[in-house]
Amino acid sequence: MKNIVILISGRGSNMEAIVQACIAQNWSARIAAVISNKASAAGLEFAARHGIATAMVDHKQFDSREAFDTELAKVIDGYQPDLVVLAGFMRILSEGFVRHYEGRLLNIHPSLLPAFPGLHTHERAIEAGCKLAGATVHLVTPELDHGPIVIQAAVPVLPEDTGDTLSARVLKQEHQIYPRAVRWFVDGELTVAEGRVSHRSAQAQVVWAAD
Ligand code: GRF
Repeated sequence: MKNIVILISGRGSNMEAIVQACIAQNWSARIAAVISNKASAAGLEFAARHGIATAMVDHKQFDSREAFDTELAKVIDGYQPDLVVLAGFMRILSEGFVRHYEGRLLNIHPSLLPAFPGLHTHERAIEAGCKLAGATVHLVTPELDHGPIVIQAAVPVLPEDTGDTLSARVLKQEHQIYPRAVRWFVDGELTVAEGRVSHRSAQAQVVWAAD
């Protein structure tokens, strides 16, 4: 049984999707803990209701990014994770932290990387006149919102879209691709070579969604 630790900062809808899939599909893994850097993160309540251990490490209590990351890693490692999943965890992680979890640290980003790393992805995609937007699950490397791509979902950008409507369309797909990627990882289906991720039995690593 593999241990998954999920890090959140807020709503936690991607974490919920992963927890639900883990239960419904009877994964050979368990969500060992959900950890937040904010006490107010709504997702903590959902996790606790599902009998999942929760923890909070408040970044404001630390003088430096490194000091916070060291404590965070200590708490995470207490759950002996095979995989650490960033699900709306809104902190930039230090290189030391990322190296510690190299190869077992996943992130979801709401754009078709390498386009639009960073914040406000949907507004930037609309502003740029993009006709396609989407989300990317990737292995984390020290460079922000980079790293080998596991799966992407693409959605159209509609003429009347606002950041909010596009964000909702993309989020729906995030909830499809993130549990899928985590399950692939848990089942040992993924291989990485020269910065590219392949699925062992060639399952589609792209989702096209019209709505
Ligand atoms: C998602 O859009 C995710 O891609 C981004 O932050 C948002 C988190 O949403 N990194 P939630 O907390 O999973 O609902």
